[in-house]
Amino acid sequence: MKTAIYPGSFDPPTMGHLDIIRRASKVSDKVIVAILNNPHKKNPMFSIEDRKKMLDLITKGLENVEIDHFEGLLVEYAVKKQAQIIIKGLRAISDFENEFQMALTNRKLTPEVETVFMMTNDKYSYLSSSVVKEILYFGGCIDQLVPEEVNEFISEKIKQGEIILA
Ligand code: PNS
Repeated sequence: MKTAIYPGSFDPPTMGHLDIIRRASKVSDKVIVAILNNPHKKNPMFSIEDRKKMLDLITKGLENVEIDHFEGLLVEYAVKKQAQIIIKGLRAISDFENEFQMALTNRKLTPEVETVFMMTNDKYSYLSSSVVKEILYFGGCIDQLVPEEVNEFISEKIKQGEIILA
């Protein structure tokens, strides 16, 4: 059984993330979408719990996908989950340098875990969680950029005053 980990911040999950999750679920037996509780990113817009809720909503129909979160080194988490594969999405050449460095470092740390890159769907090559947050800060519309369930979840949070837009 091949288990793949798709790690990220998912703050919030975008159409690009969902595209990679769907495609990863077709080429592996099980996909664990792993939210990093990242101490380096000081001001997340959404709590880990809310990110998990959004990911649960958008992956409801995908039987072999589960959502989890982790802290610390990705490869240690992968070994703990008995995963053989780390899935990364590549959007543009600008992603490559950083991802290349991380993949080689991860391989040095744990050679038995293989990093597999998936090219983004060209429709989403410009898209990132940071772009979505920027649009939200300025009151713009994100309905083309995030799955419908995420858009509804965020709209409700804004209505309830539960996310602070600077
Ligand atoms: O969505 P992001 O923030 O671009 O995801 C980055 C992530 C979580 C994949 C990356 O920061 C990561 O793997 N962090 C865990 C710490 C680690 O293992 N670093 C790699 C050693 S270079």
